[in-house]
Amino acid sequence: MEEKVVDKNAIPRHVAIIMDGNGRWAKARGMPRMMGHRKGVEVAKEITRAAADIGIEYLTIWAFSTENWRRPPEEISGLMGLLHHTLKADLTEFHENGVRLRVLGSRKNLDQKTLELIDHAVKLTQNNTRFNLNIAFNYGGRDDIIQAARTLAKKVQEGALQPDEINEDLFSESLYTCGIPDPELLIRTSNELRISNYILWQMAYTEMVFIETYWPDFTKDDLLKAIIDYQQRDRRFGKVSSK
Ligand code: FPP
Repeated sequence: MEEKVVDKNAIPRHVAIIMDGNGRWAKARGMPRMMGHRKGVEVAKEITRAAADIGIEYLTIWAFSTENWRRPPEEISGLMGLLHHTLKADLTEFHENGVRLRVLGSRKNLDQKTLELIDHAVKLTQNNTRFNLNIAFNYGGRDDIIQAARTLAKKVQEGALQPDEINEDLFSESLYTCGIPDPELLIRTSNELRISNYILWQMAYTEMVFIETYWPDFTKDDLLKAIIDYQQRDRRFGKVSSK
């Protein structure tokens, strides 16, 4: 039904999602929070398939933020475990379907096993071109900007770069999202109307869609509705309206 009204010629290339509400979804069912995260992973996989079907090229999902270290230790290790499971159990399916996997975020505080699984998955899928799944893990928008600034400052210190040569393109290339176009659309579930330190620099012109549904209840239909909403926006980029 919904698919009929989506303009197939104006599909966003890159959709970023804040998968919020797992805990509240579980609580509403009298279940532990981790059950919400587990269901959340299943939904993330379904939405990855749906996004590829629709013609989206890049999907960036936020699985662990730099602030999530403040959660109880058992929830932190549960979320680490879900990443491990995804990078092991689902890797073959991703690879066979031409999915290039990237993990965006800081390596700081991640243990050796996690880093090995990330490196293996990223390397194995690096030449895949059908779809790009970016898992933001140990990711924070401010941390991304700071690490880019640090990288460029080191180049200046080494004499390989002049301060005046630093421009938007060079800065973008120093972010974790190097080589990935900026997202046209951000979706946040669970009725929270914030960016919460997600991909800040890259979202300068991103259209935002906030929906009430908790992430574990999110469907392909919700994704299509968000795209329709996006397609009705007048994206001006500082210019006057073209409509
Ligand atoms: C927000 O819900 C969600 C997260 C902090 C993590 C999302 C993680 C997953 C979907 C699983 C990990 C995915 C992969 C691919 C490894 P919340 O816990 O803040 O929910 P609440 O606001 O209702 O408490």
